[in-house]
Amino acid sequence: MAQPLPIQFLAPDLDALSAVTGRIAVLAEPGQPFSPGFRRLDRLTRGALSRAASSEAFAKLKPGEALDLAWPAGLQAEAVQLIRLPKKADVAQARKAGAAAGKAHGAGGTLILAEGHPRAADIAFGLALRAYDFDSHKTGEKKAPGPAILAVTNPEAVARAAAPMAAVAEGVFFTRDLVNEPANVLTTNDFAARLAAMQELGLHVEILEEDQLRKLGMGALLGVGQGSESPSKVVVMEWRGGGKDEAPFALIGKGVVFDTGGISIKPAAGMEEMTMDMGGAGVVAGVMRTLALRKAKANVVGLVGLVENMPDGRAQRPGDVVKSMKGDTIEVINTDAEGRLVLADVLWYAQERFKPSGMINLATLTGAIIIALGYENAGVFSNNDDLCNAFLDAAKAEGEGAWRMPMGEAYDQRLKSRIADMMNVGGREGGAITAAQFLARFVKPEVPWCHLDIAGTTLAKADTTLAPKGATGWGVMALDRLIRERFERS
Ligand code: BES
Ligand code: MN
Ligand code: ZN
Repeated sequence: MAQPLPIQFLAPDLDALSAVTGRIAVLAEPGQPFSPGFRRLDRLTRGALSRAASSEAFAKLKPGEALDLAWPAGLQAEAVQLIRLPKKADVAQARKAGAAAGKAHGAGGTLILAEGHPRAADIAFGLALRAYDFDSHKTGEKKAPGPAILAVTNPEAVARAAAPMAAVAEGVFFTRDLVNEPANVLTTNDFAARLAAMQELGLHVEILEEDQLRKLGMGALLGVGQGSESPSKVVVMEWRGGGKDEAPFALIGKGVVFDTGGISIKPAAGMEEMTMDMGGAGVVAGVMRTLALRKAKANVVGLVGLVENMPDGRAQRPGDVVKSMKGDTIEVINTDAEGRLVLADVLWYAQERFKPSGMINLATLTGAIIIALGYENAGVFSNNDDLCNAFLDAAKAEGEGAWRMPMGEAYDQRLKSRIADMMNVGGREGGAITAAQFLARFVKPEVPWCHLDIAGTTLAKADTTLAPKGATGWGVMALDRLIRERFERS
């Protein structure tokens, strides 16, 4: 598993700067006094730094953006990275500044001079997140990343502030690794094994196999996986860090390890992206990991439905009718609308077994949400304004795009079936909404619930501020914050 960079926090040693190899990053802001580290580097480079800081190029940068001085005379360093960051930077700007250093971080290591900056811990967090690299399938010589050091005036205090962030970074990396992993590696068995390994962290992990799922009546979930050689599973992860009798909050994830579409098979072009169709389960796993690592004072249970949607002689057919654990029957019009079938049973099981105080499910559920919101926002659907607004606030604070979508009776009507209680599709128009209505049929009205359609936000087509192209880990930070702010206030 990709581990976040260990970051050291040290008091600045200005006399040693001339001998530092690797990269040096330093903060500056036009109109604000230069830091002692900046002034020292400026003297060593005979004014190159202050010339750069007063250049038009630097003035054009936004907070958190940077320019590079390569192989500067007077230093041993590979480069000095001049990062624009005001003292009054907000969290997002500070993370972006750290990410600028993280993106360039290599084998030579990086020293960031962040003396006296009030958001030094956020800079470290941005550095760690952006330095992520999924290279486990690249052969050939690999250079381990060098040391990452943050020079700060109060190293102990910054290290203390950064410790919970390191737990979040590790959760985000866990999610990204799961999402980036190809489907021949991350089978349902392999996925479940990786989750079971989290028992070491103090999570209670339980794997429900097909015979148990059959006994529970999970016909909707089992129908999706019946064309695959990989067995379907439900994995339950429990973190009990809160009050003994406090009902847990439930996180539920769609874990389709590969979605061919089944007999309603997808076109070949782009099908390889469907290795990410377990993204919802990936986020649930990442959040559970973070909660355990930082010993969260909350009761949270994570449940994921792990299946593979394959065409096969035993595969489910369009037109099949399956019976859900709830007891409702579903006419499977399109075998490619499989995520909702999986979630229907896991949502019901979560409510029956855990009587949760609320629940949030995550799923790469529909292409339609990408048509509606693009790649910048996840769709948020909810039966409860309070929970929904709390989630939206948490997502905003973490810079993770989320936008509430409508629901309503008229959309629900589109799921009517001629021969069963419902169909699994409601037509092309508003497809993300009818998918949400389908899920809502498996949510008890008294349970506060949000559905997050993360089809657009799970995988980035190009580098983002905090991640390289590929899996983003979207949602881990927002959900961790939501849990912290909603359940750990004491
Ligand atoms: N996993 C897909 C949704 C998806 C599409 C995720 C693009 C990420 C990127 C889902 O299972 C699916 O196939 N949905 C269908 C539903 C349709 C058949 C009603 C879709 O969106 O086309
Ligand atoms: Mn599908
Ligand atoms: Zn799918």
